[in-house]
Amino acid sequence: MNKKIKKIGVITGGGDCSGLNAVISAVTKTAINKYGLEVIGYLRGYSGLYTNDFIKLDLKAVSGIMHQGGTILKSSNKDNLFNYALKDPDGTVTYKDVSDVALKNMEEEGVDALVVLGGDGTLTSARDFARLGMTVIGIPKTIDNDLPATDVTFGYNTSLESITDALDKIHTTAYSHDRVMVVEVMGRNTGWLAIEGGLAGSADVILIPEIPYDLNKVAEKIKERDNFGKFFSIIVVSEGAKPIGGDVFVREIIEDSADSIRLGGLGALVTKQLQELVPSHEVRYTNLAYLQRGGVTSQFDRSLGIKFGVASVDLIMSGKNSRMVIYKDNKIQHVSLEEVVGSGAIGETSKGGNKQVDPNGDLVNACQAIGINFGN
Ligand code: F6P
Repeated sequence: MNKKIKKIGVITGGGDCSGLNAVISAVTKTAINKYGLEVIGYLRGYSGLYTNDFIKLDLKAVSGIMHQGGTILKSSNKDNLFNYALKDPDGTVTYKDVSDVALKNMEEEGVDALVVLGGDGTLTSARDFARLGMTVIGIPKTIDNDLPATDVTFGYNTSLESITDALDKIHTTAYSHDRVMVVEVMGRNTGWLAIEGGLAGSADVILIPEIPYDLNKVAEKIKERDNFGKFFSIIVVSEGAKPIGGDVFVREIIEDSADSIRLGGLGALVTKQLQELVPSHEVRYTNLAYLQRGGVTSQFDRSLGIKFGVASVDLIMSGKNSRMVIYKDNKIQHVSLEEVVGSGAIGETSKGGNKQVDPNGDLVNACQAIGINFGN
């Protein structure tokens, strides 16, 4: 046991997802019950580490939070302390490495180790703090399930439940009004949410980034269903899908974010284009957007989050540093942050490192076998 560790700090960075509170709860309970440590949680990601804004995490603070979505510590997907945006009084912004301020804050507070929950940007900084001598353990999180380093991430399962539930509900109006319902889901540059949610939610068409689409094929599928006597269709559109020969639909570029490209909104375009191809139907659009990130955490995500949280404290106390907890081959394992950060293994899109849906794999085959069309 690493007797030098007395206090642990916890940080949640990047977009929120279900399961974060389960991790925070498990880290705190394990640290206190198993090792007699103290725990604090920095607020709003790394910015709390810079401003020294934190709350004490004791058994009472984490009681009853495990099932809640989001993060009680709040989050930020912008603040990189190694290139931090500082505003001068005249409004000009300069970028500066303020990691020394964070290290000083932790030293003064007696924080000996950090557990950092986040995606590629957040975990890159986690690695950089480890390089500066801090003990750091990373925990990957995303609803997109696109990280090659781990078989699954918490958050994904709860999102799938929300998507499936939404599709069940949307069927009601689709059927009653003989409509074509376009439902957009998240997932960034991978189609996991769309294909798994669409399969369980009885979609008729699923458009994913891994299989470029032709809307004429989608229109053919709708007409085929009409001829069969099914006068409604459900079209699930992944935000990162693209037409054959075309590009991804970018909604916004956020310069000071680790992954600056924001997707979302493709469904509206698909709806407009499809309406012209199937004028006999009303084509309507629903973007599930942040409904997929919120809500009550599923059993699977609670359980995985707890296992990740416990493992992170066990790693710290066994003297490990700069590791990331993963779930591979049905067991909790850990890999080097040095190896995974920036390699694409935790989904860094600019390195093309996402775990993709295999267009010839079991999942696509299963969908096709039961009649789901991919717009190809
Ligand atoms: O990576 C998780 C995710 O929810 C993506 O599915 C989505 O594209 C993105 O985050 C949205 O990010 P933001 O919260 O910045 O809109």
